[in-house]
Amino acid sequence: MSLIPTITFAKPSKKLSGTLFILSSGEGKQCEVAADYAGPSLKKAIASAEFKSKANTTMELYVPAATDLDRLVVIGTGKVDDLDENAWLKLGGTAASKLGSAKSATILLELPETAVSAEHAADFALGLLMRAYKFDKYKTKKEDDAPAKTAAKITILVSDAAAAKKAFVSREAVHGGVTVARDLVNEPANILGTLEFAAKAKELEDLGVKIDILTEKEMKKLGMGALLGVAQGSVRPPRMVVMHWNGGKAKQKPIAFVGKGVVFDSGGISIKPAAGMEDMKGDMGGAAAVTGLMHVLASRKANANVIGIIGLVENMVDANAQRPGDIVTAMSGATIEVLNTDAEGRLVLADALHYCRTKYDPEFMIDLATLTGAILVALGNQYAGLFSNNDELSARLTASGLSTGERLWRMPMGPEYDKLIDTPNADMKNIGGRHGGATTAAQFLQRFVGETKWAHLDIAGTAMGSPASEINAGWASGFGVRLLDRLVSDHYEG
Ligand code: BES
Ligand code: MN
Ligand code: ZN
Repeated sequence: MSLIPTITFAKPSKKLSGTLFILSSGEGKQCEVAADYAGPSLKKAIASAEFKSKANTTMELYVPAATDLDRLVVIGTGKVDDLDENAWLKLGGTAASKLGSAKSATILLELPETAVSAEHAADFALGLLMRAYKFDKYKTKKEDDAPAKTAAKITILVSDAAAAKKAFVSREAVHGGVTVARDLVNEPANILGTLEFAAKAKELEDLGVKIDILTEKEMKKLGMGALLGVAQGSVRPPRMVVMHWNGGKAKQKPIAFVGKGVVFDSGGISIKPAAGMEDMKGDMGGAAAVTGLMHVLASRKANANVIGIIGLVENMVDANAQRPGDIVTAMSGATIEVLNTDAEGRLVLADALHYCRTKYDPEFMIDLATLTGAILVALGNQYAGLFSNNDELSARLTASGLSTGERLWRMPMGPEYDKLIDTPNADMKNIGGRHGGATTAAQFLQRFVGETKWAHLDIAGTAMGSPASEINAGWASGFGVRLLDRLVSDHYEG
């Protein structure tokens, strides 16, 4: 939202001025490196500071007048052997946290002990951009340390600068999509209603994404009674946005992503407690991730046919709102007794999933939803819940989660849980019992996916409100965008 730093890659050179970042593993010669660039007095300063070089710790030195440098930031990497797949992304984020108000900075990425690959340099740059994100558009006065009116110019020094620049192209696409998702989630609900969200999604047309938007009338005609029942308490009309990226072969079956897009979840007549209700502006985190993902795939011209479907509604309290005990008929024909109007996400997804499957017959469907508080109880903020009817898809998702750091933990499903949503009054009810709430929600969704390979990601704990990390200091994380981009590029392209 705020100014995005510009990144260039260059080969290391010795003539440097201004702010310099160097890395230190603590294992060897970072003092010599610093001395090379900044003179012997600095070598002494580094040696005397008791800096242990633990991963993602930093040390800052203001440099004496004798050199062209004015500030040196040392970033600890930890032991080189311990650097894992996500290490470079995090190191980039740590660097961004130390930019301060610098208008430009040079980052010497090479460690004395090891060469840094082009891919790692590109990951570092992505991490830097992700951490630099700020949602401050509503602050009329920026904070003192905010960067000035021009974007910071970052030069990353790495031996194979040309290859790093090339590798960075796909990361820039990812950064664009993560930013789209974060902005959507951070935006308050008075500004971002259903129509505004649909308009944002429509902007993807500029990237070559084909967009269809179903209106309330069209959804009525299709019989989407589950989604419409949620929407009826709001003055904002529902929309279902279908995004198509046709980057694959014409005959290839599409893969599909489906997102819960509740622009605000008051709970409806089963109203939520006041404390923390403001967080429910983010109850469209699944739809935001799907939109961000489509942005990435189109930006980098992914070689795949992809459908993104988002169900946009607002769950409000109103004389026309649906009541506990109402029975609605979903597009599939199944009847649902709505025993709690706050279990609305599954009602929206029931129609979105059924529509997706019957209209597009996809290779798989993956839905993302801030679906249950129960997943927070089970997994906290570090893993999203994974529920699936397919072991291969689950394994692939789990692996993509580890590669990107957007981690998933597979949760149980089964007929004993499915029984918990039976009711004498209709085909099913929209809540289970007191326990296993994330699983009973998933069982509900499964009743709408038929034989299609399917996975459900409950991102209630990870899409927003996670503790600050190296790559995100804000509220919305954009969780799911990098994960699913990786899933697509590792398994469904070419
Ligand atoms: N949007 C909420 C789930 C949620 C909770 C998301 C916390 C993010 C943070 C969802 O619609 C909801 O209200 N779920 C209920 C279901 C219950 C009524 C069966 C819940 O989890 O309490
Ligand atoms: Mn709810
Ligand atoms: Zn909700």
